[in-house]
Amino acid sequence: MAVRKLFILPGDGIGPEAMAEVRKIIAYMNAELGAGFVTDEGLVGGSAYDAHGQAISEGDMAKALAADAVLFGAVGGPKWDAVPYEVRPEAGLLRLRKDLQLFANLRPAICYPALSAASSLKPELVEGLDILIVRELTGGVYFGEPKEIIDLGNGQKRGIDTQVYDTYEIERIAGVAFELARTRNNRVCSMEKRNVMKSGVLWNQVVNETHKAKYSDVQLEHMLADAGGMQLVRQPKQFDVIVTDNLFGDMLSDVAAMLTGSLGMLPSASLGAPDAVTGKRKALYEPVHGSAPDIAGKGIANPIAMIASFAMCLRYSFNLTKEADNLEKAIATVLDKGIRTGDIMAEGARQVGTIEMGETILAEFKALSA
Ligand code: IPM
Ligand code: MG
Repeated sequence: MAVRKLFILPGDGIGPEAMAEVRKIIAYMNAELGAGFVTDEGLVGGSAYDAHGQAISEGDMAKALAADAVLFGAVGGPKWDAVPYEVRPEAGLLRLRKDLQLFANLRPAICYPALSAASSLKPELVEGLDILIVRELTGGVYFGEPKEIIDLGNGQKRGIDTQVYDTYEIERIAGVAFELARTRNNRVCSMEKRNVMKSGVLWNQVVNETHKAKYSDVQLEHMLADAGGMQLVRQPKQFDVIVTDNLFGDMLSDVAAMLTGSLGMLPSASLGAPDAVTGKRKALYEPVHGSAPDIAGKGIANPIAMIASFAMCLRYSFNLTKEADNLEKAIATVLDKGIRTGDIMAEGARQVGTIEMGETILAEFKALSA
């Protein structure tokens, strides 16, 4: 039987509650579907800081590197607002992305039919929405050097972040976007700010060259990132795949997420390059939502983004396509039946907590897998 190594990092806030529901799905798949998942668990973010003064320990980093896939909950919270910058909760996530070289962040924004009324946009604008944001994740202003605050000695300080992209970084993320577009509606929109940024000029050039060299069958269009943000809330269904840099991708994916009704709905996958020998990619799966400290521990968090992230893990890390389809179908069915957590509650629906939502989805998944 295949052994599939999962490393689980529930993190802070609602992370552990949401992850508990995924653990039930893993247990079922092992017991009934012979999935062969072997799991190990570690600490990340504030909980890791509390335990050993770091946002992730060396031991847990080694386990993450050795795993077939990492399942990540969420990090951060007001409790750690004052901890030193180097060991703040987010540093754990950024280190995982960097050390595992997870350069491609896939953030689908899908509007489940049952939820089109939950969007802040008119239902007809978002019904059937299916966008994939491909965000570059290991470069740009997040990691560029210098990154510092210097004392100018005249009572002034200067904060510096550096936006930097090399050709190969743009080429490989564009390649991922074009490949994925071929499995969808075959359209890519690349977003940058070439009107003010040199890195934007290069981004635009390299995307064009990559397109011409290998992917001319895919329809390519370019937008300035600010205009792209505007179009996302104006006419979101015009997009298929959007490819953009780390910082623009961070912002645009939050916008896209909210189009679907709730941040609590959206999964993500962060992938590395395929290994030259084994062909396997390093990967980390996490919900787009954060740790939501205000509702943590109350049992009311929406576990759907976490469960849908696990569905992406089944699809991208283990090629368990049928199981991934079934899990996504289970989520849609439960929503169709009018079962909702508080964040997506609607008139006439039945409000449930985290556990009941998780277990109802699991029950549907079991029925579909039987
Ligand atoms: C995200 C988050 C992270 C980011 C934070 C937690 C560092 O906002 O994954 O979108 O900025 O990338
Ligand atoms: Mg973000």
